[in-house]
Amino acid sequence: MAGGGALDGRAVVGFGIGPMLLTNKRAIVTGGASGIGAATVRAYAREGARVVALDIDDAAGSRICEDVGAAFLRCDIADRAQLFATVDRAVEQLGGLDIMANVAGVERRTPAEDIPDDEWDLVFSVDAKGTL
Ligand SMILES: NC(=O)c1ccc[n+]([C@@H]2O[C@H](COP(=O)([O-])OP(=O)(O)OC[C@H]3O[C@@H](n4cnc5c(N)ncnc54)[C@H](O)[C@@H]3O)[C@@H](O)[C@H]2O)c1
Repeated sequence: MAGGGALDGRAVVGFGIGPMLLTNKRAIVTGGASGIGAATVRAYAREGARVVALDIDDAAGSRICEDVGAAFLRCDIADRAQLFATVDRAVEQLGGLDIMANVAGVERRTPAEDIPDDEWDLVFSVDAKGTL
């Protein structure tokens, strides 16, 4: 390819080519046990970050973190006291914090007109209050 090939010295995420993008960055990822959060944990770790994942799913979270050399802490982000204490603990383990990825969330796919009060409460406690 003209001009020295497709990479041209740029870092390419996900192929192990080029410099790692997050070397020595310290990251917390909520929802790290599944879906977007798990992919974020893997991607951050692959790019050289030190990662602590938080989730309520201990089994999946621990497995993913063990795979990539990240740390896992169980945490229900809807519980304010637990969240603050766990984030403090994670920051202490990491020795600081550069990246906070708020990915945990709940989505039940219930049609809006059928969502019961307890589901609204759960969604707001996790997606809004827990995250913000
Ligand atoms: N997947 C998509 O295409 C998409 C698109 C837009 C928005 N979203 C939203 O992004 C969020 C993540 O999506 P996903 O597909 O990765 O979902 P997912 O269900 O695969 O993962 C969500 C993670 O959050 C964790 N979690 C749930 N409640 C928690 C709590 N109280 N404390 C800590 N962890 C908790 C779950 O255990 C799970 O590991 C969801 O809110 C989803 O609605 C997803």
